[in-house]
Amino acid sequence: MAIDPKVFRSALGRFATGVTVVTVKDGAAAHGMTANAFSSVSLDPPLVLVCVDRKANSLEIIRRTKRFAINFLAEEQKGFSDWFAGKGRDAADQFAGVPHEAGENGSPILKGHIGALECGLHEEYAGGDHSIFLGRVTRVLLPEEVRAPLLFYASAYRKMNMGAAFDS
Ligand SMILES: Cc1cc2nc3c(=O)[nH]c(=O)nc-3n(C[C@H](O)[C@H](O)[C@H](O)COP(=O)(O)O)c2cc1C
Repeated sequence: MAIDPKVFRSALGRFATGVTVVTVKDGAAAHGMTANAFSSVSLDPPLVLVCVDRKANSLEIIRRTKRFAINFLAEEQKGFSDWFAGKGRDAADQFAGVPHEAGENGSPILKGHIGALECGLHEEYAGGDHSIFLGRVTRVLLPEEVRAPLLFYASAYRKMNMGAAFDS
């Protein structure tokens, strides 16, 4: 039975996710891309994956540089998600208005993240109209304070009720 793309997309949206910005340093330029198709993969070795649209500018940059960082966004960083998902940000310095510092592998680390991972490109797999980039984690950035994440669910940004954790 044929899958209706609209229904498929909507169904995928019912899986609540956090929001990341995948960053890459490409020579003098830095590049960022909003992504929620992120997953942990392996603890030993430490591996994660992110799925990147084959039409995205980030694809060739990650292939070329073979290193990137994944920044987990805090609730108040919705503006960065919009910015790094938007078109027309390639002409100017994408990080001009975005507080950040260079990670050990050169990739920008966004100030105010709730967690970040620096990665080397371990493997690329074909995934239909996306590429699956498997990253080997080379550095973990973990702020001491646990802060509210930016969530994405049913095509909208959401807030987490941080007071509502289950007892066990
Ligand atoms: C919440 C959200 C999640 C997204 N997740 C992904 C993703 O996982 N993979 C992807 O390729 N694009 C994703 N996008 C779309 C890209 O951010 C967008 O196409 C961006 O312009 C790509 O940048 P680039 O072409 O400069 O690489 C997402 C957009 C939003 C708003």
